[in-house]
Order: sequence, then structure tokens, then C-alpha cells
Amino acid sequence: MKYVNEINKRRTFAIISHPDAGKTTLTEKLLLFGGAIQTAGAVKSNKIKKHATSDFMEIERQRGISVATSVMSFEYQGILVNLLDTPGHKDFAEDTYRTLTAVDSVILVIDSVNGVEPQTRRLMEVCRMRDTPVIVFINKMDRDGKNRFDLLEEIEKELKISLHPMTWPINSGKDFKGVYNLPEKNLLLFTANTKAEEEDMIRIGDLSEAALDDKLGEKDAAILREDVELIDGVYGTLNEHEYLAGKIAPVFFGSAINNFGVKEMLDNFIRIAPTPRSRETTTRLVDVYEDRFSGFIFKIHANLDPRHRDRIAFLRVCSGKFERNKYFRHVRLNKEVRFSNPYTFLARDKDVIEEAYPGDVVGLFDTGSFKIGDTLTEGENFYFTGIPSFSPEIFKEVVNKDPMKTKQLEKGLLQLTDEGVAQLFTQYGGNKKIIGCVGELQFEVIQYRLLQEYGASVQFNSVPFYKACWITSADQKKLEEFTRFKSSNIAMDKDGHLVYLAQSEWFLNTERNNNPDIEFHFTSEIHKETV
Ligand code: G4P
Repeated sequence: MKYVNEINKRRTFAIISHPDAGKTTLTEKLLLFGGAIQTAGAVKSNKIKKHATSDFMEIERQRGISVATSVMSFEYQGILVNLLDTPGHKDFAEDTYRTLTAVDSVILVIDSVNGVEPQTRRLMEVCRMRDTPVIVFINKMDRDGKNRFDLLEEIEKELKISLHPMTWPINSGKDFKGVYNLPEKNLLLFTANTKAEEEDMIRIGDLSEAALDDKLGEKDAAILREDVELIDGVYGTLNEHEYLAGKIAPVFFGSAINNFGVKEMLDNFIRIAPTPRSRETTTRLVDVYEDRFSGFIFKIHANLDPRHRDRIAFLRVCSGKFERNKYFRHVRLNKEVRFSNPYTFLARDKDVIEEAYPGDVVGLFDTGSFKIGDTLTEGENFYFTGIPSFSPEIFKEVVNKDPMKTKQLEKGLLQLTDEGVAQLFTQYGGNKKIIGCVGELQFEVIQYRLLQEYGASVQFNSVPFYKACWITSADQKKLEEFTRFKSSNIAMDKDGHLVYLAQSEWFLNTERNNNPDIEFHFTSEIHKETV
């Protein structure tokens, strides 16, 4: 328990949302509060705009921004906040899912006009799988949004989580007057285009006070009184244990662009968000407070300079103390490794660090020795579990256009897929390489990077597969039979695991029905097996 103070002052989280709900804007406001940036507009959106799918400068720009903003750390009220960025584009959803394994909680931004959107749903599914505590920020209250009660009902129903309003809005759109802070019993008044200041806050001992009518007008004051009575009756006070267990999500209303309602959320976040948590591994639970160091790689990012192959591996510290130049065990390679230039991400600057604690993310220069899911320890052999490897949805065969560059191509494919941008399959009994991705854009990125970084020129041909399923069986003979019989649909993943590539749902269902001894897995979790 040597590092208890360091651990308890840390909060590591991510902001998630459907694109355009306001994640970038909210991030920027939080950084302003944390003093990590001084001016608005300093945080660039890492979205790839829809029309820019063929614009490689846009991809490069996006990669640049996402390295720079991968982790943003700042101090607020004595708490060290690590905010992990997630890509905005849906084709990079896998990256987001993995980043969610490295955080202890999330803030979910919902656009009050659009409500729950497809990406919101998918992201929340991942959070629910891991019981990640969630705080909801309902944004854009300055626009005519959905009825607030309907919106809460929609979120609860669609995202299968119970909500607990912490602030309550008075109207929306041009009639938006502010939010009432339910536990604090004060009113924050909204004036468009001006930052809410302390003096815009009115303390209300009792909602029947006449001051409420003066500030809001009789009609809105009456509605607020009615709403609050209803909410108090239904929700009572927030059960923080249920929030920490991922069962109840506190909700805040506001407008990120106007920096309105953001501070209320941040203050509560600091108070209730979980400190770094203990984590499961393949052999035992690693207690966050134990003294021996452990951590895992959740993201790998290529260096932007194509002349240098080095990459940045992002390590989440899970226990103990990470130290510069100290030898740690790289479990998969069974090797002792040390890092002379590990760096931390304090807003825009990358600084070499001497030490890091649970909850921190450290950037490690890597020349190809890391894969997603790799573990570093002080000697013990285990892997952290729960890092998902998602089933790709689009498959293409890699066609080498320049046989002189075969070696470079193979190396490039291995390294790029180590980064987790795509999955590589090799046809069973053959040499055909198939790439599986979650989105079309990934293929363009891979083609472009293979050429730029490895000098390998490729073309992608469509193959008629729709899903990859990892197959296992307790009966080795049955598995071998199935593999032989279905060989044109079987491939190996990079780790030599068998994968069945289904042409359609019908084929998949038929095979599952006909082969009850074979298990079909849709999301192969990295490090399921015990070492
Ligand atoms: P994202 O990262 O979740 O994709 O969203 P982002 O913050 O980039 O916000 C998407 C758009 O919504 C931006 O407008 C942003 O200015 C706007 N926005 C964010 N918060 C609010 C809010 O509270 N109220 C209103 N009315 N708008 C908000 P844009 O036109 O796409 O970009 P920009 O030109 O303003 O940068």
C-alpha cells in the first residue's frame, strides 16, 4: 500500500458519444477548467469528415491529432485527471472499445436534439459489458430538443441503464433559462454566448421562495417546482454505490459550447468518479494497491514520420510504480525490457517521465515488440483479461502488386495489424492473406500506409465473407474434421487460432446447427487462455 495517496488522487476516464454530439467541445471546456489549455479552439476535432474518406491528408491530419490528444492530463481541485481520447469516426470503433478497457469510468455525451444514436448504443454496450460507471451529459440544451422526461425515458430504455438527474433544465432552445442543481438546491441562470459565472448562481433554500418567480417568471417557476417534486419523489438521492457498480448513471444537462452546466458536472465527477480499480488477469486479481508494478498495452500508434518505423505503445499502469530505466518483464516475449524515454501526456506537451502510478497512461517508444494486450510486470507471468478483439465486418483479399516488395508487405501487414487497425487472416492450407476491418475507411488507410511506410503496393479484392468466428471444440477430432471439410472457409488468425469465415448468416446458422460440438465465438477476447 505504498502508493495509496498517488492512486486515490487519480481519475482516469474517457468521453464517448455519437459523432457531433459535442465530445470535442466538452473536452475543451474540461481542459480549460483544468488549466491545461488557455484558449477556446485549442482542441481540434479528430473527426474525419464524411466527405473526406479519400482525402489522405485528412487521414494524416487525424492521425496527428489523435497522437497529440490521445491522453490529456490535468489537475483540478487537487485531483489528477487523465482523459483518454477516443476516435470520432465509426470505422475506428475498435480503437475506442480498447481504450475503454484502459479507463475506470466514462462520460457519455448525448445530443438533446437527436437523443440516443447508433454509436451511443454500441459504446454503451461495451460499458455495460464491463460495468463501467457512466455519467451522462445531455448537451445542446440551447437548441430545441426533445422533452426532457421523454429523453430520459428514451435513454433508459435504449441504453438499458437507470438514470439519476443531478441537474434539471428550465426549458430548452431559445427559452432555455438554466439548470437547477437538485442536490445543491441552487439555480444556474443561462445567458446565451456568455460564460456562466458564480454571480449567475442563485441559492434557493426553498423552492417556494419568491426569488424563483422573479428570475424565471411565474410560469416556468411553477413548472420547475412541479418537476422537482416529481423527480425528488421518483429518484431520491443518488446511490453512489450503484453508480460505481455501473447500474445508475447520474445525468447533467447543459450546453458545452456555452460552457454551461459543465462545471457542475466536473465538480461531481471529481467527487464521485472511481479511483483506479483492481483488475482481473489470467491468473489472479491484481489489487490496484499492491506494490509490485503491472500494466498493459491497450493502443499502439505508428509514428507520423514515415522514415522512422518506431511506434508509440500506450501502457495503462494497473498496480505499483512504473519507473524510467527500470527492467520490467515483457510477459509474451519472456524478456526483461526497460524504457529510457517513457513519456507522459500533459495536454499538448509530451514530457519524459521518471515514474507513473495506477491510472496513468505512459507512452513507450516501440520498434515492433508490442502487440495490443501485452503485459509488463515485475516478474510475474499473467495477462490482463477483457481486452476485446472484435469480429470484423468487411473482408478483402490482399493482392501484392509488386512482387519485389513481398518481404516489406509481410512486415507491413504484421505491424499494422499489431496496431489493431485491422485483423489479418491467412487462408487455411494456403497463403492467401485476408484483411478484416470494421469499416471501409480502414482499407484506404492500410493501402496508403503500406505504400508510404513500407514501400509495398497492394490492391484489395472483395471476398464474399460477412463474419469471422473463432472456432474451438472440446473434441479435437471434430474440430479437425470440420476444418478439413470447410477448408475454403477456414483461416488462421495471427496467433494461429482457427477462424471460420461465414458467407452469410444462413451459412453460419446452418453450420452451427449441424456442428453442435463446435463453438463459434464472435468476439475473441485477447488472452482468454491461461498462460
Ligand atoms: P464531436 O466531437 O462529438 O463530434 O462534436 P463537436 O464537439 O465537434 O461538436 C459538434 C458540433 O456541435 C459543432 O458544430 C459544435 O460547435 C456544436 N456544439 C457543441 N456543443 C454545443 C452546444 O452546447 N450547443 C450547440 N448549439 N452546438 C454545440 P459544428 O458546426 O459541426 O462545428 P464548428 O464549426 O462549430 O466547430
